[in-house]
Amino acid sequence: MEDGWHVVAADRDSDALDALVHSSPGSAPLSTEVMDVTDRGAVVAALARLGTLDLLVNNAGIAGKRCAVGTISEAEFRDVLRVNMLGIFIASQEAVRRMGKGGAIVNIASASYLVSPNVPHYGMTKGAVVGLTRSMALEFRRHGISVNAVGPGAIDTTMQSALSDEQRAHLARIYSDGPMPPDVIAAAVRYLASSEGRRARGQMLIVDEGTSLGIDLW
Ligand SMILES: NC(=O)c1ccc[n+]([C@@H]2O[C@H](COP(=O)([O-])OP(=O)(O)OC[C@H]3O[C@@H](n4cnc5c(N)ncnc54)[C@H](O)[C@@H]3O)[C@@H](O)[C@H]2O)c1
Repeated sequence: MEDGWHVVAADRDSDALDALVHSSPGSAPLSTEVMDVTDRGAVVAALARLGTLDLLVNNAGIAGKRCAVGTISEAEFRDVLRVNMLGIFIASQEAVRRMGKGGAIVNIASASYLVSPNVPHYGMTKGAVVGLTRSMALEFRRHGISVNAVGPGAIDTTMQSALSDEQRAHLARIYSDGPMPPDVIAAAVRYLASSEGRRARGQMLIVDEGTSLGIDLW
């Protein structure tokens, strides 16, 4: 917002949007849309209210219930796929129709696309986001629209609230100061949305303090 963007925050949770508005500076150009990103009608209606669009950040996602591959239910599996994959597909497909040359899409994937203990369905969807990012980058390149992704490590948000004490202790040990603040990811998005960052196409910027490098092996 401080970069001059008019930000429209969309979420299916109106309380989360209210909290965001209250925590943002009063003068910032921020508006909100309550919608489910998997509801194409709601996405189209929200985009119509916007007019043109310069940047889409596909951030909505769910981690799903923690469980092993052997115990996950089909309903749970489908739910995570629907939000994390279908949501990005629908929002991107509709948004790109309203973007001109110079537009950008940034998808929020996850460093856990490499391997995702206890949430295998979540990790799978984030791998799919990386694949879709590359395919969209190739297709939309001819329209002058960049598509890239950010792969966060552990970020201090409500998504982390489902972690056990043991998992929290592990994160406290492998990160310099525990899970990272969301601002770290906002900075990566800001870079990919900048005129310089838009030169990147189909890339994922992993921001995880190197924890996916196999640090436990050293
Ligand atoms: N927190 C982490 O450690 C972490 C790590 C890697 C990637 N990510 C990714 O970052 C993104 C943001 O997650 P977060 O950590 O802020 O989690 P969060 O749970 O705090 O926020 C996710 C938001 O998405 C919204 N949402 C979920 N399904 C939706 C839908 N169908 N339509 C509209 N809104 C919907 C929720 O209401 C919630 O406000 C997600 O894509 C997540 O997978 C998070």
